[in-house]
Amino acid sequence: MRRKLIAANWKMHLLPVGARALIHRIREEIDRDAAMLAKDRDVLIAPPAILIPAVAEALAGSSILLGAQNMHCEDKGAFTGEVSAPMLHAYGVTHVIVGHSERRHIFHETDELINKKVLAALHHRMTPILCVGETHAEHDSGRALDVILGQLQRGLENVVDHHVTAVVIAYEPVWAIGTGHVATPEQAESVHGAIRGAILERYGRERADAVRILYGGSVNDENVDSLVCKPDIDGALVGGASLKADSFARIVKARTR
Ligand code: PGA
Repeated sequence: MRRKLIAANWKMHLLPVGARALIHRIREEIDRDAAMLAKDRDVLIAPPAILIPAVAEALAGSSILLGAQNMHCEDKGAFTGEVSAPMLHAYGVTHVIVGHSERRHIFHETDELINKKVLAALHHRMTPILCVGETHAEHDSGRALDVILGQLQRGLENVVDHHVTAVVIAYEPVWAIGTGHVATPEQAESVHGAIRGAILERYGRERADAVRILYGGSVNDENVDSLVCKPDIDGALVGGASLKADSFARIVKARTR
């Protein structure tokens, strides 16, 4: 049985005071159900890098995991403005989002660079959340699966058999991110099935069954149940709706079957 993962991607939002208040409110909503939730799901919050120390402090004593939205692939060096895996690790960060569509499209990150970040995260025993997904044009022209499976294959280059289960995949159709146009559960499930199929082909049944595949793109408190009920959808990567305590808490408590 794969555990579900509900992950918040705060993107470039909030200041320290607001971040602490949001964590406080989320904890008010979910701490009392923590033991029950912990049976079958993990919860993760990925704040902007500079807020990681404040969020780490606000999460003390909670089972909510701490993630980063990005990192550099080298441990240290002359890379002005960048943050490395050891730096994140020092603050208790266990997961890092890699290859988010905003990194790919706005910051021109390539599959090659994204792959280096995946390998660096694994090297430091952090869980990379490798994002893949097609644009609107790619979707409309029927090339979605080619794009997604290509990104997956290149993102996992040189990831050895016994490391692949430490990777989380996030399927995030670009046309669904921040648009309110969520993929239907059937659309998402079919892509998740194809992703799992590709992992099966390369890594075998046991490992394919263990890898978690999240859906992201306009997930909210109203559509989350129908998505995470699907057998191949192992959770959600949530942007906009993760910035409101009540909606994020409701998403965390999603019905999963
Ligand atoms: P959204 O963002 O939930 O606001 O669509 C998801 C994401 O970009 O991870």
